Amino acid sequence: MDRDLKSLISQMTLEEKAGMCSGLDFWHLKGVERLGIPSVMVSDGPHGLRKQDDKADHLGINDSIKAVCFPPACLSACSFDRELLHTFGTAVGKEAQATDVSVVLGPAVNIKRSPLCGRNFEYYSEDPYLTGEIAAAFIQGVQSQNAGTSIKHFAANNQEFNRMSNSSEVDERTLREIYLPAFETAVKKAQPQTVMCSYNQLNGTYASEHPWLLTEVLRDEWGFEGYVMSDWGAVNDRVAALKAGLELEMPSSNGVNDEEIVKAVKEGTLDESVLDLAVERILRIIFHWTDHREEQPFTMEEDHLLAQHIAEESMILLKNEEILPLGTDEKIAFIGGFAKTPRFQGGGSSHINSFRVDNALDFASKIGNVDYAEGFPSDRDLYDEALSKEAIAKAADADKAVIFAGLPDSFESEGYDRQHMKLPDCQNKLIREILRVQPNTVIVLHNGSPVEMPWLPDVKGVLEAYLGGQAGGSAVANILFGKANPSGKLAETMPIKLADNPAHLNFGDGDKTFYQEGIYVGYRYYDAKEMDVAFPFGHGLSYTTFSYSNLATDKTEISGSDTLTVSVDVTNTGHIAGKETVQLYVRDLTGSCRRPGKELKGFEKITLEPGETKTVSITLDKRSFAWYNTEIKDWYAANGTYELLIGASSRDIRLTAQVQMTGSRPLPLNLHLNSTLGELLGDERTKEYGIRLKNKMVQFFSASSSEEAANSAISDEMNAAMALSMPLRNLVSFGLCSKEEIQQTLDELKQIR
Ligand code: BGC
Repeated sequence: MDRDLKSLISQMTLEEKAGMCSGLDFWHLKGVERLGIPSVMVSDGPHGLRKQDDKADHLGINDSIKAVCFPPACLSACSFDRELLHTFGTAVGKEAQATDVSVVLGPAVNIKRSPLCGRNFEYYSEDPYLTGEIAAAFIQGVQSQNAGTSIKHFAANNQEFNRMSNSSEVDERTLREIYLPAFETAVKKAQPQTVMCSYNQLNGTYASEHPWLLTEVLRDEWGFEGYVMSDWGAVNDRVAALKAGLELEMPSSNGVNDEEIVKAVKEGTLDESVLDLAVERILRIIFHWTDHREEQPFTMEEDHLLAQHIAEESMILLKNEEILPLGTDEKIAFIGGFAKTPRFQGGGSSHINSFRVDNALDFASKIGNVDYAEGFPSDRDLYDEALSKEAIAKAADADKAVIFAGLPDSFESEGYDRQHMKLPDCQNKLIREILRVQPNTVIVLHNGSPVEMPWLPDVKGVLEAYLGGQAGGSAVANILFGKANPSGKLAETMPIKLADNPAHLNFGDGDKTFYQEGIYVGYRYYDAKEMDVAFPFGHGLSYTTFSYSNLATDKTEISGSDTLTVSVDVTNTGHIAGKETVQLYVRDLTGSCRRPGKELKGFEKITLEPGETKTVSITLDKRSFAWYNTEIKDWYAANGTYELLIGASSRDIRLTAQVQMTGSRPLPLNLHLNSTLGELLGDERTKEYGIRLKNKMVQFFSASSSEEAANSAISDEMNAAMALSMPLRNLVSFGLCSKEEIQQTLDELKQIR
């Protein structure tokens, strides 16, 4: 229905308009009854609904209504499956329609900068491309049911320490290449109805009042059409925030900030048109909701099965030395409290009141011959002699042991960061003891973020279940016994130890966090440092095997608005059906600037029957090759050679090919008296002039050095090297050119395009 919102707004009082810009209570926006503007509800999630009816709070302390807890983002991202995320989103959208939730508060797309971030379980990946693709698919799914989403937390909110005041100090290239693209992709592809700004400051300005972030980048550059809401309590200066582009403050300020807005309009410090526009943006989304109410039948039973399916498609088989799948004729010992009481979601605002929880023990007992010993509790670090003794005995007596390890709730949560990357000591100790009596041991991990695995070389299998959602237990049982063939791939690197992480020295203290590692986040860093990792980004095994062949591109040159289609054949070389995620990384060989050795720019997940071959096609465009150049304030892909790497993981590259970029305009010359001779020599446009100056300089050095010095201390190589780093102004001080002469030539050179 087309509504004349402007005319509606013209009938609102100043107070009513200011009131629309903040919540009525924790979960509702205000309405204006006399004008037919309804009060609508928003609700947390996003891996299910956390709808609180009364005693509302935003930290998950009070119970919400019973709902389905799907796998949190840390797991679902590992599906590398856009279609699956779309189905997932659609289910959440249906539940939202059916339960009067107009906007689901998610997805959360912050990049995993450090394994310590307490909310990593809510975030998808260390990689911006994967995050953006997965988020866009989820948003499209939810919004296909005409419920809204709120992509969060915009932006650079990568730690919990001092989350409401800390300033993330990030240079623009790093923001553009790492921390913003997931939001950008989601906005451009899926147009989320709302964006939630983060609590933190970005380079000294609160995200809630950051005009560059909320207006210049989000709206003017990316074309965002919805409204921006604050994270709960993220508003610092309400009027500044409104001017910067924050339409809705949540939850409410008890009217205090509404009055500030009214006052500012009356005093003339806030243009009323800014307020009108904000109200219009909010009303458009409210009425989209009320005009698209639909009967949405859903059953929690069916969604529970979908939650199980998503978990099975996402869990990652990290290691398998011919120990899995378990046989139904084998005697298996399940050890560890998580087998019976799995940790399947994280604490805080995304906490869902699950209507049912599957545990692996119950399900596995229906499939095979499973005995159980608790060994250690799932909720704390407590070594118990009696429990351990029983577990060791049962493990020794079995054909194989499966140890259900993981992080207790208190080890990671919204609101605080982890202190370390270790499992509870009691678990590592018992794992060691069991390995002494039972070499055929598998570890199943329940964690929202990587853990150190000191026992890794000695165990035969590791299944990373992350936090599996309420049906994670049945998914684990099915994967262990081969009823489901694992196909998840890691959406983050598992470093060997915490100190290896690039953010290690700049994380979680002080009131500013300096993102000094820049664009070298996750595998971009570990690769550049040639560092061993426990498991690389993109890694994940299957019970079958795949071979890759026939890498081809539809052209060998790409330029301008061309796209390039890369195709590769993948064959299932094993005996059972399985799924493989083909990953396409790009490496820049042009040398135009320092860049990571490879970056993910495409992926596709396919299903293959035994012996079957499929051709996978992935399309790249110029942006896939580009880096963000802050001088031209744009993405830039230099002319020259790029390598395409097809991998089964970021460190299992199976095939490579090269393509040429042509037709890119060279970067403008930025020349001045302090430019070096080396810079002149390194650019074709200035090379000739550089050679002339260099010759003059080398002659000068040779003439002025004594014969003895020339023979010993000062070699020709040294002269040449020194000339390269010599600023042009030195030519003046050596009397080789006049300042005016150099300046004139530089001005002429700058005209060259
Ligand atoms: C969290 C958001 C959440 C909001 C509402 C905040 O504390 O940061 O992610 O959506 O509360 O519960």
